[in-house]
Amino acid sequence: MKVTVVGAGAVGASCAEYIAIKDFASEVVILDIKEGFAEGKAMDLMQTASLNGFDTKIVGTTNDYSKTAGSDVCVITSGIPRKPGMTREELIGINAGIVKSVSSSLLEHSPNTIIIVVSNPMDTMAYLVHKTTGLPKNRVIGMGGALDSARFKYRLAEALGAPISDVDGMVIGGHSDKGMVPLIEKATRNSVVVSEFISKERMQQVVEDTKVGGATLTGLLGTSAWYAPGAAVSELVKAIALDSKKMFPCSALLEGEYGLNDLSIGVPCVLGANGIEKIVEISLTDAEKAKLSESAEGVKKTNGLLEL
Ligand code: LAC
Repeated sequence: MKVTVVGAGAVGASCAEYIAIKDFASEVVILDIKEGFAEGKAMDLMQTASLNGFDTKIVGTTNDYSKTAGSDVCVITSGIPRKPGMTREELIGINAGIVKSVSSSLLEHSPNTIIIVVSNPMDTMAYLVHKTTGLPKNRVIGMGGALDSARFKYRLAEALGAPISDVDGMVIGGHSDKGMVPLIEKATRNSVVVSEFISKERMQQVVEDTKVGGATLTGLLGTSAWYAPGAAVSELVKAIALDSKKMFPCSALLEGEYGLNDLSIGVPCVLGANGIEKIVEISLTDAEKAKLSESAEGVKKTNGLLEL
């Protein structure tokens, strides 16, 4: 398994670090446009190998896509991150051009790659990659739901006073403050729905805190978060590398699933060696369906800003 991570910023470097630490890939290439930056991050990370016990080779390059040749998975993190008070949607102008040119350069050297899109506004960037590369829908995966679900579980554990390993929950819909749909009615502690343990008001608070999970961190850090995004990407890449068929909510191109068409949005997906091997249609309550449709409208509105 060879993985390329485009963007050596905090998110890209975290992706590379977590992928390397999990030790399932033979090589991770980090590419950045800033002279020497990816090389520096790669060297620093390689110097953790003996300490952290991994054999993954990490290579850095300043914009030399030939080094990425033959990648099985490419992760696009490039573009500008949001600053406090900004929405992910406001990044579209700059990031669309970057994501379009990066995906085309990647495919020149790795025609069979699966692409994982992290750059924001993520659902729209994943859609853009579909539209401009013509790749089949199994090979373009938007990373948002795995991250939002991790943030949901963090908030659930906090509300329940339970260890994280006790809780389970999933966030579908768009990767945006307004568009996320945390499936609170389906969230569980050891398979028991959380409404057995916490009030409706507390459940609603968990939902609200989850939806602004990224914005809360942007306010604290002054820029977008990186540890959880990097860890979420590494889990998606691992599921592909190990052909594990694990289910994650990912932004996938929908063609009728959930009654939605012609957009990428977060829905449960089974990931394996072929990328998105199945979009899983779970039954949703009327309220959940309404929230997903509203979220889809928001994503479509942002997609409308693309110059396709
Ligand atoms: C976040 C960015 C990755 O939610 O969208 O932290």
